[in-house]
Amino acid sequence: MVDKDAVRRGYDGLAETYAAQRDPDGGEWRMLERLRERLPSGAQVLDAGCGQGDPVLRRLDDDPAVEATGVDFSRQQLRFASEAAPNVALAQGDITSLPVADSAFDAVTAFHSLIHVPETQHRAVVDEFARVLRPGGLALLTEGTADWQGANSDWLETGVEMQWYIAGADATREQLRAAGFTVRDERLVGDELADEEASWTVFLAQLED
Ligand SMILES: C[S@@+](CC[C@H](N)C(=O)[O-])C[C@H]1O[C@@H](n2cnc3c(N)ncnc32)[C@H](O)[C@@H]1O
Repeated sequence: MVDKDAVRRGYDGLAETYAAQRDPDGGEWRMLERLRERLPSGAQVLDAGCGQGDPVLRRLDDDPAVEATGVDFSRQQLRFASEAAPNVALAQGDITSLPVADSAFDAVTAFHSLIHVPETQHRAVVDEFARVLRPGGLALLTEGTADWQGANSDWLETGVEMQWYIAGADATREQLRAAGFTVRDERLVGDELADEEASWTVFLAQLED
């Protein structure tokens, strides 16, 4: 059953385990560096579905040339994010309706958050990224390479249920295009939290000027 609130409750329940197991130096870090190289000094970056603050907010917290903001709907994840990145602004909110102003950011990052949003709302998330970015702004996001929907009633052996709604790279590429983005780079990365050799597609996309 599609139940977005189950995802929020799930992350509240397993935030500590997730934080302990998430590799802050995972494959996406290289894509984050590529994004960072393209940002102007003083850039504003929004991490949408920031979770426990790794890998994005912890890195940007130490970067004097960037101002970062994190949004997540899990209060417990935000609690860990505030420890990982004490200088960034954090807000509780839903990435389908971001609690931030139009055209306020130079970049949006979203590692492994779109994949928890019911598929009928993926386009709303991508449209939100377009709304909050300045013209020419950059979006860096992870999507499953192939489509898959499912749940695990004992994710990370916590006894907590988690749900995923993965639309696949082709669908996400098309949604980015429809929302006014051009994909500038696209890479496959592995996953240290999956049981098998999962691969994720990381998109670096630029909003039209
Ligand atoms: C897999 S974790 C990723 C956290 C971090 N970005 C990372 O790469 O490790 C997914 C995060 O997205 C958040 N999330 C999922 N759906 C969301 C939504 N609709 N609005 C806000 N946050 C959401 C969850 O609470 C969780 O913290």
